Amino acid sequence: MTEQSRATIALRPSAGFVATQATQDLTERAVIYLQAGFPIHFRGPAGTGKTTLALHVAAQIGRPVMLIVGDEEFSASDLIGGQHGYRYRRVVDRFIHSVVKYEENAVQQWVDNRLTTACREGYTLIYDEFTRSRPEANNVLLTVLEERMLVLPTASRDESYIRVHPEFRAIFTSNPQEYAGVHETQDALNDRLITIDLDFYDLETEAMIVATASGIDLEDSLRVVSLIHAYRATGAFTQMPTMRAGMMIARVMALQNMRPTVLDPRFVAVCLDILESKRTFASRDQDLRMQHRRLLMELITTHCA
Ligand SMILES: Nc1ncnc2c1ncn2[C@@H]1O[C@H](COP(=O)(O)OP(=O)(O)O)[C@@H](O)[C@H]1O
Ligand SMILES: [Mg+2]
Repeated sequence: MTEQSRATIALRPSAGFVATQATQDLTERAVIYLQAGFPIHFRGPAGTGKTTLALHVAAQIGRPVMLIVGDEEFSASDLIGGQHGYRYRRVVDRFIHSVVKYEENAVQQWVDNRLTTACREGYTLIYDEFTRSRPEANNVLLTVLEERMLVLPTASRDESYIRVHPEFRAIFTSNPQEYAGVHETQDALNDRLITIDLDFYDLETEAMIVATASGIDLEDSLRVVSLIHAYRATGAFTQMPTMRAGMMIARVMALQNMRPTVLDPRFVAVCLDILESKRTFASRDQDLRMQHRRLLMELITTHCA
């Protein structure tokens, strides 16, 4: 693509969002696809910034945002809406005062849920962790995305479907680790999305995010984050240490006025508390536990001298 043919997009800042080359590139790609009318999908492990990025991208579109978080218990009506409760209509005859005449008329009331409202009004839908919902619940999205028609269940209001508003856009997120074992129908949905795979950000981006979230210096943040990156590279954990681990350490540092140095026993204790819990041990594995601690101490010594 030549420089000229490439449309430049003026990205708006959104509150608390850390904009670096990496996050801006992702945002720009996503906005281009959304503008072309395609739904997008951020896929990546927990703590890679999917939800934050989805909200930032949605803010670029400038339309109201509707957020849905996937849930195993969801049914299609949780997305679309359903018949809820009764509406009573009381007709009081005001002309013949001697006869207090009124009727109570019970009518089942259709209530739109978030997907329907977003399709009708042309909002930007964020469907966070959509693969947590069962595929049967998500099937309704297939015609929304392909035919731009939302098919309503029979007996809902007077309409059997609604045409999706031209400004309706959709952003999905999912975690591939949770994706294992889902049904083919989820693949049909996936086929209609442009998927952007997210991995952990580069050191500088992650350090800026941690510094912004905690208030510590960028230089201090770089030390903490390089410790986390180095620990990630060892693979010695049972649960991946995410950006959140760095943020936790940094927040405690900010509150307690700590420096990221192995010379401060309080700092070492915080790092051990947060990082040791990333690996689980059987109670008989005392040796492994000590070995893991030695590994962490080495990393702290190297990265936080
Ligand atoms: N670009 C960013 N700017 C500021 N904070 C961010 C950014 N990306 C991620 N974060 C922070 O990192 C943490 C994890 O991000 P999140 O979006 O919740 O990840 P995921 O949805 O992939 O689990 C959150 O505390 C979030 O506020
Ligand atoms: Mg999330």
